[in-house]
Amino acid sequence: MNRVRVELGTRSYDVLIGAGLVAGAGKALAPMLRRKRVAIVTDETVATLHLPALTHALEAEGIAVNALPLPPGEGTKSWAELQRVTEWLLEQKIERRDLVLAFGGGVIGDLVGFSAAILRRGVRFVQLPTTLLAQVDSSVGGKTGINSPNGKNLIGAFHQPSLVLADIGILETLPDRDLLSGYGEVVKYGLLGDAGFFDWLELNGPALRVGDQAARLHAVTRAVEMKAGIVSRDETEEGERALLNLGHTFCHALEKATGYSGRLLHGEGVAIGCALAFELSSRLGLCSQEAPSRVRAHLRAMGMKVDLADIPGDLLGAEALIALMAQDKKVIDGRLRFILARGVGEAFVAEDVPGDQVHRLLTDALSLRK
Ligand code: NAD
Ligand code: GLY
Repeated sequence: MNRVRVELGTRSYDVLIGAGLVAGAGKALAPMLRRKRVAIVTDETVATLHLPALTHALEAEGIAVNALPLPPGEGTKSWAELQRVTEWLLEQKIERRDLVLAFGGGVIGDLVGFSAAILRRGVRFVQLPTTLLAQVDSSVGGKTGINSPNGKNLIGAFHQPSLVLADIGILETLPDRDLLSGYGEVVKYGLLGDAGFFDWLELNGPALRVGDQAARLHAVTRAVEMKAGIVSRDETEEGERALLNLGHTFCHALEKATGYSGRLLHGEGVAIGCALAFELSSRLGLCSQEAPSRVRAHLRAMGMKVDLADIPGDLLGAEALIALMAQDKKVIDGRLRFILARGVGEAFVAEDVPGDQVHRLLTDALSLRK
């Protein structure tokens, strides 16, 4: 088992990464509890596959369990489900010093973390991430929230978990498409700040995909180390943390354009967004032409979506996609900010990206869909 510390003063916490952490959850959580009960929020798929094991582990330590399974999918990050979770936690008489467990992927982690942030002005919660995406990214760093009809993740709060238990064994039941979606966020870490990690992924990504536990342990740990470092230095995204949004300006517009549906998963949009960000960087003369080719080659080798042409169904035109980007949280004074790169592992925040270049990039990318 590996342990990564997120250093945030009195709100510091550990991220434990390894196999068997769900089975050990009772022992890990018991010392944190003032009274021996927890409320678990999960999704129906995770509940069917893994809730009995988690419940057993907790009850073995004398911890009473109540669980609320929600429908799986991005649509659950909504006002309606936020109300349902929060009222349910009130009915469970969850108090500030109790623990709420978010047991699922990024959808459950974001929604439950936000509910915990606003319930009684903040109750403690623990993340038990069950997808690769949630283990490498969403469970760490305290960004919580829901989607609005106006856009992705526009309503939320920073609320750090008290502990993260990333059981890599639980990834064995994750469908390949969801695993690859999470891999989009894994690649992002190499691209934004660790060229050596990207080299390692080029060699070991295929083994990770088919279940190599050592490769999964290394990839999750390296990603969490990078995220923990960035969050410790810039918790509320005044600067460096924005680098974690590499590919996300494109991704959020594409997710909105596809209706937050199964047509495009979040990590798939991140992968396509990273490829577009590198292409834009190259066109602006910021990095070599080889860099976007290398990014695309690795994503293709992994069997991932790479181009706008890989998104099924109708898509908006360049103008409309740019209009959707204008709702992005990275917009400041109405100007689009992008995370661009000077090479693999060398991302930076670009404030003044010429709109006509973005338009041309998207027009060219859309033309390949014909
Ligand atoms: P998800 O939570 O929808 O999970 C994907 C699918 O996998 C779901 O159908 C789920 O039921 C299923 N599943 C989960 N664990 C499983 C398991 N072990 N075995 C079998 N099936 C399992 O999606 P996700 O990709 O985990 O998360 C995407 C969300 O994360 C997006 O809303 C995104 O905005 C958010 N996110 C947040 C942050 C952050 O910092 N807070 C960072 C990145 C992404
Ligand atoms: N996933 C982006 C962040 O946590 O800042």
